[in-house]
Amino acid sequence: MTAGPGPNPGHDLTESQRQFSQVAEAYRRSPSHADPVSLARFLALAELRPNHRVLDLATGTGNVALAAAVQVAEVVGLDITPKMLDQAKQQAAEREIRNVSFIVGDAERLPFAAASFDRVLVRSAPHHFKQLIPALSEAYRVLRPGGVFAVSDCSPPPVVRDWLEVVEVGRDPSHFRSRALEEWRALLQSLGFTVEHAERIEQEKDILEWFDVASVSDKRKRQLLDYYETAPQAVRGQLLAQWREGRLYHRYWHALIRARRPIHPPA
Ligand SMILES: C[S@@+](CC[C@H](N)C(=O)[O-])C[C@H]1O[C@@H](n2cnc3c(N)ncnc32)[C@H](O)[C@@H]1O
Repeated sequence: MTAGPGPNPGHDLTESQRQFSQVAEAYRRSPSHADPVSLARFLALAELRPNHRVLDLATGTGNVALAAAVQVAEVVGLDITPKMLDQAKQQAAEREIRNVSFIVGDAERLPFAAASFDRVLVRSAPHHFKQLIPALSEAYRVLRPGGVFAVSDCSPPPVVRDWLEVVEVGRDPSHFRSRALEEWRALLQSLGFTVEHAERIEQEKDILEWFDVASVSDKRKRQLLDYYETAPQAVRGQLLAQWREGRLYHRYWHALIRARRPIHPPA
């Protein structure tokens, strides 16, 4: 297992494709990623309207895109991993959702005209982006002035972040870096967005289920569970880890952010 905290130095773009090609089916079946309550909360943040054209970045198996499609005129889901999109297309067909299309692409170089979307959404993916600033700049470019960029991503408090990065990368080598809420706010503002809402929400996570969605090997699971045993007191005080009926649970955090492209750019 990679020792030491911080960003994953071996990350490259194909790492995401490799990882998610292996887990596409497991990801589609993951109850936590398809949870309707968390999807509804995220979409409420985005203030969707029936006439909207929406882009879902790093759509994966299409959880967000398909939930949004029933509320708006059109959704485009973009992802770098074709096998994830195969699952998304299959789900759209099964659910007879016809106002959604899925295309292979890189969030850092969007194949869309400027100001061509009312909303840009991204959930559970920016921590994979090695080049976050180009991806956020692209989101800004393709949004119409006045449009909303809604983000949900893992975002532990600073005291836990570096410790948890080792678990994140050990579980999924395509994890690059979780950003704290304060980093998110500063980054978005520096690119010209107006941050209207930024909160860190917490939930209790079933850690073994989380490992299984990423197809973590038994050997790696044991290494990661050993690593939990070495957690410093300050980290334990935040995680509140507990074993119940043979399963490990602990607190986990997400940033929920609504940022708007201003109608008039700041002078
Ligand atoms: C954890 S999944 C999230 C899927 C989905 N957004 C959801 O909420 O269920 C992360 C996705 O990010 C995609 N991804 C990673 N880097 C990307 C990039 N640079 N451009 C587009 N997609 C990317 C991966 O292929 C994967 O499908």
